[in-house]
Amino acid sequence: MSDWTKSSWRSKPRIQMPEYPDQDALHAVEAQLSKFPLLVFAGEARRLKRHLAAAGRGEAFLLQGGDCAESFEQFSSDAIRDTFKIMLQMAIVLTHGAKVPVIKVGRMAGQFAKPRSAPTEVVGGVELPSYRGDIINELEFTPQARIPDPAKMLRAYTQAAATLNLIRAFSTGGYADVHQVHAWTLGFTEGEKAERYREIANRITDTLDFMSAAGVTSETAHTLQSVEFYTSHESLLLEYEEALTRVDSTTGKWLAGSGHMIWIGDRTRQPDGAHVEFARGVQNPIGLKCGPSMTGDDLKSLMATLNPENEPGRLTLINRFGAGSVGDHLPRLIKTVREEGANVTWVCDAMHGNTIKSSTGYKTRPFDSVLREVHEFFGVHAAEGTVPGGVHFEMTGQDVTECTGGVRAVSDEDLSDRYHTACDPRLNASQSLELAFLVAEELSSRRAATRSQAAS
Ligand code: PEP
Ligand code: CO
Repeated sequence: MSDWTKSSWRSKPRIQMPEYPDQDALHAVEAQLSKFPLLVFAGEARRLKRHLAAAGRGEAFLLQGGDCAESFEQFSSDAIRDTFKIMLQMAIVLTHGAKVPVIKVGRMAGQFAKPRSAPTEVVGGVELPSYRGDIINELEFTPQARIPDPAKMLRAYTQAAATLNLIRAFSTGGYADVHQVHAWTLGFTEGEKAERYREIANRITDTLDFMSAAGVTSETAHTLQSVEFYTSHESLLLEYEEALTRVDSTTGKWLAGSGHMIWIGDRTRQPDGAHVEFARGVQNPIGLKCGPSMTGDDLKSLMATLNPENEPGRLTLINRFGAGSVGDHLPRLIKTVREEGANVTWVCDAMHGNTIKSSTGYKTRPFDSVLREVHEFFGVHAAEGTVPGGVHFEMTGQDVTECTGGVRAVSDEDLSDRYHTACDPRLNASQSLELAFLVAEELSSRRAATRSQAAS
């Protein structure tokens, strides 16, 4: 890796990062963080990379989801448990549709820093710096709360460590037993309105019954009892990332130890910018958000910089074009990837292109637009003969009212009931599971189409 160091991003243009007024306090925090243990291990990140490579070939499927922004105030073991649980439920349903392993990656244990569309916010004639996530400043609309405070990095680290500790315990402690997770899912399909999903749920029950009749039980097959669960976040606050970046003694390569997968946001993906510079030198799997403004030339240069050896699984292209726009952008980016002969894993973020303001003034995302974007994503890949490798959602296991629609319909008027997000609106538990059923249907019909092509 020529002329890269964990600090080389500092000499590149940076955007969307705070200017800390107290530089001494910043340096003290950086010094402290750089002695703290890493949150994830290099072997885990490499394993996730192999799984993502498989997703790029259609031999696995990625489910990535969680909060838009983790918050200090809403941190609780119940919230972590509920999001973990709904992701496992979604994963079982998706596995049934895809017939390949589903890779579970949370937007958790580090998803704190937020890029913003404007540097300041005006409320009632008062202008203050924007909120940038709990790792940087506070949501409260006062001048004091909006000052970037480096000490928040220490609190974010502690929260991430505790979150990951709980996730690791849930992953292996019996909580993730496939029979248990399926039993929860059945609860959803018993509802009158979710009837259309009952057939898939019944087929999963049949499969599990058959397996146990054949002697494959949680006692005999350890994989039914435990799951692999990975963490991810946007690598935005580079002082935090750098302090948790260390050399992996097995390979001598650098690891961003803040999470298994890190991604570069749609606003900070300048080929010569600080965020790309940081990511190019670490061995983690890297996500790259691709919005409508991504040009073929940008993508070419980003692929060359971020994955010079064309390693499969290294680069996941997370598309976020918006419903109605996938057909305008995805085919041209697929063409660029083809021309370069690049290995990438295509993933659909069906949230960030679909944010609107509701009639009641809340930022929301209609369930139908989210679904439509996923549908268009599958459609383009079917037409191009390329592989849809996964989906990316902002979601929570809790019963919030932030996105509209779904079988247990949330209306514009309902949004004010339980609108808790610190940033973008998330799907609630019922909307998330419903979406998983609908994506499973897409995956099954894709498999059917591929089979009939092969037969003809
Ligand atoms: C996000 O994932 O929360 C985000 C800000 O996404 P994007 O960079 O795609 O806008
Ligand atoms: Co978001």
